Amino acid sequence: MKTEIIQSRKPGLWKKIGWAVMLLLAALTVLITSRYLTLDPDVYFPEQKAVYMAHITFLMVHIVASMLAIIIGPFQFLPGIRKGRWLKLHRLLGRTYMLGILFGGLSGLYMAQLAHGGPIARLGFTLLAVLWLFSGFRAYKHIRNKEIERHREWMTRNYALTFAAVMLRVWNPIFGMMGIDFTTGYIVVAWLAWMPNLALVEFAIRRNRSRQRNFNAMSASIRKHKTAELEQTLGVGEG
Ligand code: HEM
Repeated sequence: MKTEIIQSRKPGLWKKIGWAVMLLLAALTVLITSRYLTLDPDVYFPEQKAVYMAHITFLMVHIVASMLAIIIGPFQFLPGIRKGRWLKLHRLLGRTYMLGILFGGLSGLYMAQLAHGGPIARLGFTLLAVLWLFSGFRAYKHIRNKEIERHREWMTRNYALTFAAVMLRVWNPIFGMMGIDFTTGYIVVAWLAWMPNLALVEFAIRRNRSRQRNFNAMSASIRKHKTAELEQTLGVGEG
């Protein structure tokens, strides 16, 4: 049987800073979007006011479920929460996160068909919703099969997509400051909010896999060398 050693390293300072920034941006997004929970139509952006009022149930389901996912996500990446007595909490938060994606994703898929910006923006949001649901499903399947590394990878992809909600609110004002008209910017942002995030984590996942392979190969070679040395000392083995 081939045993794979999962290389575990303590997160460095940059990883800790990255995690804190991720949590801060997620919390700010929840704070900003919580104004929608007042059900006051004046908070909707003018171009979509009528659409949101006509589809308020879908919008609310989408916002509440997606908010849950975005705020739970960062905690699931803490190494400490994935072991010992914290594992129960990780599982509970994980199930809640999955429900968030399921409801947030399905209602997002519905809202995508009505999104501002026309067919290109709608296609961008539709693809985002489909990939969000798909990556959540893959992550769930892998953990059911106890494939922890694959589960971690698919969750990382999934959260990169969840983070589209943050990036949308970063890119929109940047385009506004650049003097780009709102609708044009919105069409671009429907894609730009998630594609670079996904590309970035895909790069990180592949780099991590290659490091893991090198680490496993090195461990195997050390083990082989040590066994040969021991056999030589004891005078046993081949020959
Ligand atoms: C990652 C998957 C997501 C998809 C596919 C998605 C899709 C959509 C779509 C299509 C709309 C309508 C946009 C329009 O009418 O032009 C929308 C609106 C909205 N979504 Fe999401 N969304 C996602 C994630 C999130 C998350 C994580 C949040 C968390 C806070 C969120 C909060 C909102 C809010 C507040 C609105 C109302 C419009 C606004 O001010 O941006 N969404 N979403």
